[in-house]
Amino acid sequence: MTEDAGTASRRAVLAGTGAAGVTAVLTGCQTYGVATPAPAAPVAPAATGTAGPTAAAGDGGAAEPAAAPALARLADIPVGGGRIFAEQGVVLTQPTAGTVKAFSAKCTHAGCTVTSVADGTIVCACHNSRFDITDGSVRGGPAGSPLPAAAVTVDGDAVRLT
Ligand code: FES
Repeated sequence: MTEDAGTASRRAVLAGTGAAGVTAVLTGCQTYGVATPAPAAPVAPAATGTAGPTAAAGDGGAAEPAAAPALARLADIPVGGGRIFAEQGVVLTQPTAGTVKAFSAKCTHAGCTVTSVADGTIVCACHNSRFDITDGSVRGGPAGSPLPAAAVTVDGDAVRLT
């Protein structure tokens, strides 16, 4: 059996439309109400007058493991607010100056990625759940459990997940 050029052409158009539709849906999911932050620039280690940890040749010792790259600079996280890192699935908040908290960005109600941080709360716009920026506890909406905390360290201006 052979197919005519018109059938093949229609299939190509339908396949292309399907791919475009999927792309549109995926794009919509990726940008749903979340401002994608610019990636944080790598944070240079503080100048100490040394070249950093190195293993001396022949000493048999292992070099210290390198610190995880910084997710953000402290100055990039608003005091009394926070910032969503949708790609990493985490929200960083700074309830008070110099105190950084990290929480899962996945809403505990139905799994949407949270969408904003406002008025001391992390907001999920899917069904309007709100979570406290200090401990992730539920402050409103249908969510029944807090956002799970994540481990985070602040080293100078560098904020790292650990
Ligand atoms: S999924 Fe977040 S409020 Fe429903």
